Amino acid sequence: MKIKALLSQRIESAFEALGLQGQAMLQAASRPEFGDYQANGVMAAAKRSGQNPKEVAAQVIAQLDLKGIAKDVSIAGPGFINITLAEEFLATICNTQPSKTENPLTAVVDYSGPNLAKEMHIGHIRSTIIGDCVARVLEAQGHKVVRQNHVGDWGTQFGMLLTYLNETGENSDALSDIEDFYRAAKQRFDEDEDFKNRSRQTVVALQAGDEQVLSHWHRFIDMSISHCQHLYQRMGVELTRDDIKGESSYNDELAPMIEQLAKANLLTESEGAQCIFLDEFKNKDGDILPLIVRKSDGGYLYATTDMVALQHRTQTLGADRVLYFVDARQSLHFKQIFAAGRAAGLASEHVELSHMQFGTMLGKDNKPFKTRQGALIKLADLLDEAIERSQKVLAEKRGGAPEDMAHLAEVIGIGAVKYADLSKNRTSDYVFDWDQMLSFEGNTSPYLQYAYSRIQSIFSKSDVARDTLPEQITTVDEAERRLAVAIAGFDDMLDLVAKEGYPHYLCGYLYDLAGRFTQFYEQCPILTSADQDKVRRLRLAEQSGEILANGLELLGIGVVERM
Ligand code: ARG
Repeated sequence: MKIKALLSQRIESAFEALGLQGQAMLQAASRPEFGDYQANGVMAAAKRSGQNPKEVAAQVIAQLDLKGIAKDVSIAGPGFINITLAEEFLATICNTQPSKTENPLTAVVDYSGPNLAKEMHIGHIRSTIIGDCVARVLEAQGHKVVRQNHVGDWGTQFGMLLTYLNETGENSDALSDIEDFYRAAKQRFDEDEDFKNRSRQTVVALQAGDEQVLSHWHRFIDMSISHCQHLYQRMGVELTRDDIKGESSYNDELAPMIEQLAKANLLTESEGAQCIFLDEFKNKDGDILPLIVRKSDGGYLYATTDMVALQHRTQTLGADRVLYFVDARQSLHFKQIFAAGRAAGLASEHVELSHMQFGTMLGKDNKPFKTRQGALIKLADLLDEAIERSQKVLAEKRGGAPEDMAHLAEVIGIGAVKYADLSKNRTSDYVFDWDQMLSFEGNTSPYLQYAYSRIQSIFSKSDVARDTLPEQITTVDEAERRLAVAIAGFDDMLDLVAKEGYPHYLCGYLYDLAGRFTQFYEQCPILTSADQDKVRRLRLAEQSGEILANGLELLGIGVVERM
């Protein structure tokens, strides 16, 4: 149930009836004494019509029909409206799954997108897990989600590598070896002009479909993809092989795209290259930064592929929204692609194009997170370390190794790494801190997983069977009410995650819910209370547990029954 939407709509109809213009600007109340929700829109609406905000607020309240929804509506401060929900309304909030949208859209979600010449490293985590979470939320709301793993599987780096392997006769089926070969190939490429040229010829042969080159390429890509899929599986990321739509798959459309852009009069030749100049991309000196789509040697670029990919997404996949979960450093690239794509008619104004950008993961020294030797940390190693560290934490907590240690350590360790990332506002950089993320206190996944398992243990100790609990939620004590209000806000919060692509809203919500549960449990004993109270409170506990589990699931994080 979307309470915010419901209340906003009622308030805005009251505005309309009073001839006012504006939005309700509804928020969850910041303090319990302000009720459950607060509408801040009256001030702006009153200002616009030159009226006194307090008087306008009184008129709005008189006009407002919230029978059965709110038990108290009052004016606060200069013209805020505070709303306290009615108990009978809270009783109707029984859904623990996101409610389905009435307006299902097709959302293409572009995430992960590693470059296949290398093993996946720490720099791939953010795109992979943030994108995965938002895709899950959209899907849970009933939208059609098309995942697109835009892997870098084409271009110069592959020419280098294939030429190197061919010339040295090196051969291996281990990706770590390939990575060493890649490094050696890169060095030779930078130092040896002839090798550089031969590598370029290999790229040409590859793009022209030379069978032998292609077969080497296939073998190598296949190995790389298996490596990525294995990591996705370990991380609980839903990407499958079918979601891979790599750069290479757009190869045949690159030349036609240039023609199409030329026909649309968007291309300008500059130093032999084909460029798109758009006025909005001026630098400080007033020069336009071009989007180059074809190099002077005839080669195509990352941008050209993205133009074709955009067309594929809007025209073939029928996207209403295209969400790109890519590092903030590519911000200019996407601004240009979106603007050029719109100018070329690849995406109509009705299609949302969003660069859901994110910052960098930093080490404790506030520099990009690296190994002591200064290398990028491999994703596989990071996950291993997470499991190892969570084993230690668990052994300390339990005073020994529990028999289900392997499973526990994995769910808790990997969950901790993911949650630490998902719980931060993605647009900023953040410091990677093992101790913080594995702590059982604070806004961490072990804390939430623990809260969940504690609820399960209440049930295992209770003599009341779950299936005998009433369907409805009822509240009597204030702590019960506060918990129920949080439960009721689940859908509103998910809407925000779906719209803006910020998983930290979901994390913040779950953290708040767990905190309210703790308060409730402290103030309202469950197992020792009289039957009537016990049943009511068990029902609230059950509902809280389900939302914790479902919320964590949407983050791609598991729960355990006992911790
Ligand atoms: N492979 C790219 C990189 O590592 C990310 C791909 C993002 N998606 C896109 N459509 N450009 O930077």
